[in-house]
Amino acid sequence: MSKDIDWGSLGFGYIPTEYRYVARFKDGKWDEGGLETTSTITLSECACVFQYCQACFEGLKAYYTEEGNIVCFRPDLNAKRMADSARRLEMPPFPEDRFVEAVKMVVAANKDYVPPYGSGATLYIRPFMIGTNSVIGVKPASEYEFRIFVTPVGPYFKGGVKPISITVSDFDRAAPHGTGNIKAGLNYAMSLHPLMEAHRAGFAENMYLDPETRTKVEETGGANFIFITKDGKLVTPKSDSILPSITRRSLLDVARDYLGMEVETREIPFTEVSDFAECGLCGTAAVISPVGHIYNHGEDIYFPSGMDEMGPCLKKLYDTLTGIQMGRIAPPEGWIYKIQ
Ligand code: PLP
Ligand code: COI
Repeated sequence: MSKDIDWGSLGFGYIPTEYRYVARFKDGKWDEGGLETTSTITLSECACVFQYCQACFEGLKAYYTEEGNIVCFRPDLNAKRMADSARRLEMPPFPEDRFVEAVKMVVAANKDYVPPYGSGATLYIRPFMIGTNSVIGVKPASEYEFRIFVTPVGPYFKGGVKPISITVSDFDRAAPHGTGNIKAGLNYAMSLHPLMEAHRAGFAENMYLDPETRTKVEETGGANFIFITKDGKLVTPKSDSILPSITRRSLLDVARDYLGMEVETREIPFTEVSDFAECGLCGTAAVISPVGHIYNHGEDIYFPSGMDEMGPCLKKLYDTLTGIQMGRIAPPEGWIYKIQ
């Protein structure tokens, strides 16, 4: 039985559910893993995750489809990206096939928390991995915990799909050493101060520019950028230091194959931004969140799509992507994993 939750008023927050999946790595191997009911973790004060922030994570979602199935969207790509993040952090990658099985297991166990079709809410799935044993000299842990919890969520930005204002940041999102293209705890810790600076100035997010020249568009703290040109082309930044968004990769295919749009992934000089017709943030949490306004050191860019609603091209992309995710539109082969 579905939980008694006011799905329509959910924001993007954490509600503990009954089950989480946990596997532990020790003596060079992962244990069998399985479902657990305790939502807390007890660790040494000297655990590597606390001292040297050895942590990475992923984010994906499960949905009820129109037909009443529970599905999730491209978990194989999250499995692969998490393994890439782990390798970059000298952590043992969690086997990709086991990752997908674990996602299915934990969603099925918490099926009562999957928001109903049409409620506007979804089940956010958060896999993560941490170095758990005590480490005081700088080196990787030898023991790890891989865990997946789930939590029902509403829109990432307050106001749902209403356009937001963002600001160009003077900070870099990524931690030093070019780790922007992995989902690691430290990347995000380094983005908290710039995020709060943006919030204190009245903006919902930051636009980060490339750290080397501060002239090219990179991404925000939790999503990639997509732009629409005045002649209806989808343009998205090319950069090695942004997170390879699964939503963005999917939208490029949706735009080309479902909507017949031209698509381009290339460097985007900030000076070009004011020429675009529409701007949006894309990601698992953000889905597509329209940007109406960008503030850049005393200068304002307002997109022609305005501050009231999503522009027409982003709307088509949004409707098609969410249509595929929620079973209203036939998906490309391999995008939708049925859980039950
Ligand atoms: N960029 C950053 C920094 C993110 O945190 C996210 C969210 O995961 C994304 C982009 C979007 O990635 P995805 O579409 O795979 O969720
Ligand atoms: C996601 O979209 O899954 C993210 O990780 C973004 C944010 C919640 C960090």
